[in-house]
Amino acid sequence: LAGERVIVVSNREPYFHLRKGDRVEVHRPASGLVTAVEPVMRACSGTWVAHGSGSADRETVDRHDRVRVPPDKPEYTLRRIWLTEEEEKGYYYGFANEGLWPLCHIAHVRPVFRTSDWEQYVRINQRFADAVVREADSEDPVVLVQDYHFALLPGMIRKALPKATIITFWHIPWPNPESFGICPWRKELLTGMLGSTILGFHTPYHCKNFLETVDRYLETRIEHESSTVFRRGQLTMVESYPISIQWPPPWQGTLPPVEQTREEILHELGLPPDHLLGIGVDRMDYTKGIPERFAAVERMFELHPEMAGRFTFVQIAAPSRSVLEEYQTFANRVHGMAERINARFARNGSPAIILKAEHHEPEEVNRYYRAAQVCMVTSLHDGMNLVAKEYVAAREDEQGVLVLSQFTGAAHELHEALIVNPYHVEQTAEALYQALTMPEYEQKERMRSMRALVRDFNVYRWAGRMLLDAARVRQRERLAM
Ligand code: G6P
Repeated sequence: LAGERVIVVSNREPYFHLRKGDRVEVHRPASGLVTAVEPVMRACSGTWVAHGSGSADRETVDRHDRVRVPPDKPEYTLRRIWLTEEEEKGYYYGFANEGLWPLCHIAHVRPVFRTSDWEQYVRINQRFADAVVREADSEDPVVLVQDYHFALLPGMIRKALPKATIITFWHIPWPNPESFGICPWRKELLTGMLGSTILGFHTPYHCKNFLETVDRYLETRIEHESSTVFRRGQLTMVESYPISIQWPPPWQGTLPPVEQTREEILHELGLPPDHLLGIGVDRMDYTKGIPERFAAVERMFELHPEMAGRFTFVQIAAPSRSVLEEYQTFANRVHGMAERINARFARNGSPAIILKAEHHEPEEVNRYYRAAQVCMVTSLHDGMNLVAKEYVAAREDEQGVLVLSQFTGAAHELHEALIVNPYHVEQTAEALYQALTMPEYEQKERMRSMRALVRDFNVYRWAGRMLLDAARVRQRERLAM
């Protein structure tokens, strides 16, 4: 990737600045997208265009709305785009997160489509497209468009820069044609996405759903052997690129031994030194299966009462999209469940569940991964879920067990996890117990094999494969002309 100059576009920015009294702090958001794309951006060079969302973001940019990041060792440029409250409400909270998010995730939350939200979505996509065109220093830049906030962007960029190489990655699942078909603007969204040179999803299943959706609603020719869509002289290759994380992890070789971290964490939590810990790390989002996870923890205590007072489950839940009622109701439900389960199963000052519903920096999350005997990922539906891969990367000691929902992209790769159906409380409870009682040699065998996979299929490979495939598609187009 070195030397490749790219423009990345995403809604979420990789660093946000916050004003705290007379100080300005810089933070990293809780976002799988940022976790994956940031190391790629540091390896390449170029510009990342994103929504400036921090309270001190405006104070930290130059007069072109640019700031060099990472703050301690600048390697690329972050170009911030400003949105009014009204715009953010329509484009981000409305169309992207009340419309597309529930449309693409099977979590049984009904999508809401409002014309006014759609209009903002179109307008903001155009604003980002204009910014990309301004940031491009040639007529054929390489643009990496990220996610469901920008379905129209590929088409808009293609119009302004016909020779651009546009690689779009959809970080969330893609539903079947019937489900997608309820969106009143399905044709516009699909047409926009087909402005891409490469269109990437996490799994072959999502690609298949997408191709079937295109086949159902647009007039195109699909060449199935090469997974390519032809439309009005434009060629788009639709392929699966399972996303991953940086390897080696940035902290490799710099951290205290796992044992020491565990002792420190247990001490901080006021728990005895031989206490067993479980960890869950998510945004507070209804797709993540947090209530199902808590129900499994509760059931495990019912089935194995000797675990009460010996085991505590720590749930880190970063506040997310909390302006939306659906998310507020969900957060209340999660808090209520934790309280109820603690009332039943807390013993001698050891709670059953510790709910930390606040933002944590990646370094802090990593300490919990290292301290916990088990990590639970129980999403009801998830594109990939990088928490699963981060937990595996954190376990240099080759210990610890991953309990993983079958409805994540990660379950297609991490076969040595204990794979569960989070809707099946008994099964998930038993998997948790199995994890807590698993012999060390078995933990090692499973963890080793998962670590090898994450090492070999790391995020650089993810980006490299897309860039290579894009070069091939461009060549095919040139030769066909
Ligand atoms: C998912 C989405 C990302 C998003 C992240 C955090 O991973 O695919 O696009 O960045 O959630 O959500 P947020 O709404 O805070 O950006």
